[in-house]
Amino acid sequence: MKRLTVPAIQRRKFEGKTAEPLVMLTAYTARQAQLLDPHCDMLLIGDSLGQVIYGLPSTLAVTLDMMIAHGAAVVRGSYHSLVIVDMPFGSYESSPEAAFASASRVMAETGCAAVKLEGGQAMAPTIAFLSQRGIPVMAHVGLTPQAVNALGGYAARGKSQEEHAKIMADARAVADAGAFAVVLEGVMETLADAVTESVDIPVIGIGASARCDGQVLVTEDMLGMFERTAKFVKRYEDMATMISGAAERYAADVRARTFPTDEQVYRPKK
Ligand code: KIV
Ligand code: NA
Repeated sequence: MKRLTVPAIQRRKFEGKTAEPLVMLTAYTARQAQLLDPHCDMLLIGDSLGQVIYGLPSTLAVTLDMMIAHGAAVVRGSYHSLVIVDMPFGSYESSPEAAFASASRVMAETGCAAVKLEGGQAMAPTIAFLSQRGIPVMAHVGLTPQAVNALGGYAARGKSQEEHAKIMADARAVADAGAFAVVLEGVMETLADAVTESVDIPVIGIGASARCDGQVLVTEDMLGMFERTAKFVKRYEDMATMISGAAERYAADVRARTFPTDEQVYRPKK
C-alpha cells in the first residue's frame, strides 16, 4: 500500500456527496502509529502531546525538538497514512521566514509530508509562503489551544455573530492562502456546516459537525487514557482502567512471590 499524498487527500473534497469522510487520529509513538495506521487516512503528531505525554498544563511549552522526536517515531511506525506534524507555539508566528526555517527542519528530520499550524487570517501570508515553497500546510481554526491565554479558556467558539463571521473569514483566508486542509475545532455545529460548504479544501472537524469532510480525535482521549476530556470526545475504550488493573495484579503477584512462575525463569536444559 502506498502512502496517501496531499493531493489525494485534497481530491476527496471534490468527490462530492459520495466522498468517504477522512479519518484522522493523533499518534505520538511508533507502536501507536503501527496500530492506528491501517485504519486512518492521516496521522497527526499533535502538540497535544504536551499535556497527554509530558503532563504540561497547556501546549505552550512544547518545543520543536519534542515534535521532531515524536514525528520521526510516527513516520517510522506507519506506511499508509499521510503524516502531519504540528508546529509548536513560538516556532512559526513571528514571520513566514521563521515558519519556513522551523517547518523545513520538521520535514527534513521526521520525513513527514505536511505541517499544521494554528491561526486564520493572520497566518494566511505564512501559509502562502510555505505552500509555495513545497511545504504543505494544514491550518487549524476555531478553538486554537495555543491561543488559550487570549481566548480565556477552551470554551466552544462561534456563539456570537461576530465570532461566527471571524471564524468563517479565517477558514476562507487559509483556504485562499493555499492550505491543503483545515482543522476546525470546538465550534457551533451550524458554523461547522457553513464552513464545510464554503471552503474548497477538506474541513476536518473536532467538536464540530458530522457533516465535516473528516474527523480527528486525540487518540488517548478516544482510548480513555487522558484524565480530562472535552464534551466532543467519544470514548471507544477504557484503557486507564485496563492499565491500572494490570499494574494492580502485577503488584499483588510480586508481593505474594507468585511472579515470576516456572514459565518465566531460566533454568539449564536437562
Ligand atoms: O494537537 C492536537 O492533537 C490537535 C488536534 C486536536 C487537531 O491539534
Ligand atoms: Na495541536
